[in-house]
Amino acid sequence: MTRTEAPAGPGRELRRRYTSADLGVFTRDEAHRFVPRGAGDPQTDMVLAWELLYRLEPELYDRLASAERLHPGLVSWLPRDVDRIAEVGAGTGRLTVELVERGQHVVAVEPVLPMRRILRRKLAAAGHGDRVRVVSGFFDQLPLPGDFAGLVVACSAFTPSPGHGGEAGLAEMERVCRPGGCVVIIWPNHLDWLAARGYRHVSFPGPMSVEFGSYDEAVELAEIFYPKAAGEVRRRGRPSVPFEVLGINPPRDLAFKVLAQ
Ligand SMILES: C[S@@+](CC[C@H](N)C(=O)[O-])C[C@H]1O[C@@H](n2cnc3c(N)ncnc32)[C@H](O)[C@@H]1O
Repeated sequence: MTRTEAPAGPGRELRRRYTSADLGVFTRDEAHRFVPRGAGDPQTDMVLAWELLYRLEPELYDRLASAERLHPGLVSWLPRDVDRIAEVGAGTGRLTVELVERGQHVVAVEPVLPMRRILRRKLAAAGHGDRVRVVSGFFDQLPLPGDFAGLVVACSAFTPSPGHGGEAGLAEMERVCRPGGCVVIIWPNHLDWLAARGYRHVSFPGPMSVEFGSYDEAVELAEIFYPKAAGEVRRRGRPSVPFEVLGINPPRDLAFKVLAQ
């Protein structure tokens, strides 16, 4: 899944947080991708609401992403001892912090300045500030040379839509990946689209829950991000909430392609 789709139902609470007046936060490059017709309304468009969340309330997004932990099998599956790793749409680093152990050098590409700030802060706090280069960029215009990395990966960020990857973005990820290297889309939302482009699917089984920091946080974040499930979250009275209660598919899938040598 990616954050360009409503996680549960119509996502009304998230959309209500922003108005079209907030679109002014986009840079020219961002507006070109996210409001290509020059106008949009986050109150009716979930894609825009998520993009505004990243820019206006990045800490709120980070709290959600920290609770929605990836299946450990996903990270274990990724190749080890990679020379260079490129991650696109790194956000506040849910995956980035795991990549540090798997590569000599990691480049984290993330277009949103407030997200990059949080990511840099986290990496520095973990003592990884010098292992990861955090840069601005978009799927369809990666600021990296061809054949740069042995692993090129995106987590909960790539979609077939042009603003969030699309054909041009996938071609860019493959350009940056060296022959014999691996391109990986974690938590993909369009498996058929990726399969048609040579990507294979892997899924890791087992029960999965969203691990909120406290019961109060579970209620607060459910009301914003999973409003249909908020009543049930309250009723259960616990900080750990199974993904199925929230009505979203858990982050247990990946799609990958090994590039020809
Ligand atoms: C749902 S967040 C995922 C962030 C992080 N990978 C994670 O797992 O928490 C989606 C991320 O993709 C980024 N993004 C959106 N459009 C993008 C684009 N065209 N190119 C690169 N990144 C993009 C957003 O800024 C955001 O950080």
